Amino acid sequence: MEKEFNTLGDFDYRDKTVLLRVDINCPLDKNTLRIVNDARIRRIVPTVRELVGKRAKVVMLAHQSRKGGWDFIPLEQHAALLSKHLGIPVEYVDDVIGDDAVRAIKGLDPGSILLLGNVRGIDSETAKGDMMMHSEGEIVRTLAPLADYYVCDAFGAAHRAQCSLVGFEPLVPSASGRLMAKEIYALNAIFGNPRRPSVFILGGAKFGDVSEMIDRVLGSGMADTVILVGLVGNAYLLARGVDIGEASMKVLQDELTPENLQAAKDILSRYGQKVLLPVDVAVERDGRRVSVNIGDLPTEEPALDIGDASAEKFRKVIVSSKTSFMSGPSGMIEKEGFEVGTRIMMTAMVDSGGQSVIGGGHTGGAAERFDLADRFSYVSTGGGALETFLLGKPLPVIEALKHSKKRFSQ
Ligand code: 3PG
Repeated sequence: MEKEFNTLGDFDYRDKTVLLRVDINCPLDKNTLRIVNDARIRRIVPTVRELVGKRAKVVMLAHQSRKGGWDFIPLEQHAALLSKHLGIPVEYVDDVIGDDAVRAIKGLDPGSILLLGNVRGIDSETAKGDMMMHSEGEIVRTLAPLADYYVCDAFGAAHRAQCSLVGFEPLVPSASGRLMAKEIYALNAIFGNPRRPSVFILGGAKFGDVSEMIDRVLGSGMADTVILVGLVGNAYLLARGVDIGEASMKVLQDELTPENLQAAKDILSRYGQKVLLPVDVAVERDGRRVSVNIGDLPTEEPALDIGDASAEKFRKVIVSSKTSFMSGPSGMIEKEGFEVGTRIMMTAMVDSGGQSVIGGGHTGGAAERFDLADRFSYVSTGGGALETFLLGKPLPVIEALKHSKKRFSQ
């Protein structure tokens, strides 16, 4: 079957300038602003190494956070970590389309690497628009004439139609990087026809988005059971009429809109027993983890994890599954004693012997902390992108790569 878009092996990069867009948006420590998990940097190493090996002049584009965010920082640390993992220098210039960037690009030797500054520092990067609008943006106008090829390996940002992600494809012959191709291949292979029974564990904090996801995975038959944990689990308990208490309500904040609550009630009445909720929650009392049954709620303390009975109930379901997926932890994994639920469920996933997939930055980081990451069938670098993929919606970057292939094969 003919490929819909080009992949890394399709071009000859020798002595050519290649713009390589990656997603190395990493979690930072709030006090020190140091990168605390560099998994996304490690995962793009094969693509960079291959381009360097083929004697390309590699110009990398990337973002960290969003303008105005506390973790919106330049990319020096990212360059240093990439250099460490590659074992060769990575030049960094804190500029994207100014004279410094252009000079550095023109000065590159074959086989060398340059990382440009945080591309979200340029307002037009995130301006609302489509591929054609972005192809006329200042970032593309400045950098496209300097490039022979464009490679996108930013799977984590593939759901964003932003300038450096979709603007180059109409003008420069383009290909996916190795990570992008692997993500799409692995996710299609597992979720195109999941082995049964299939269980989805959805946690984390984004209650607003989760009802659509549950509807999609249960409605399409991708999942037989959905387990809800974390803040999402608490919100669904509320939708079932459980008084979760002021402290837990407060954490849900803006997500707790009447529309979101109604969507949760609709899901519960449509899918009934296919949606499993916690039967107890863990709170901190006198410095210790204590499980409290749902019947004994509310408590003064906020729920920080699922309780022990829930963890055991979910473990049994997960360990007998043939496909399992987890996005979002069940509790405050950074707080000792409240990582327990997440660890028990992750261990059940890898012990099931079935296909096990995790996605999202926090979930991947937790798996590394528990020393389980290597035992999963697949660890996706995507959060929002993975969600868009699972919802069956098109990824703008993939659409742009397809467009580029058609455009340059005419
Ligand atoms: C991510 O971390 O999901 C990607 O880097 C995209 O980030 P964004 O949600 O700020 O666009």
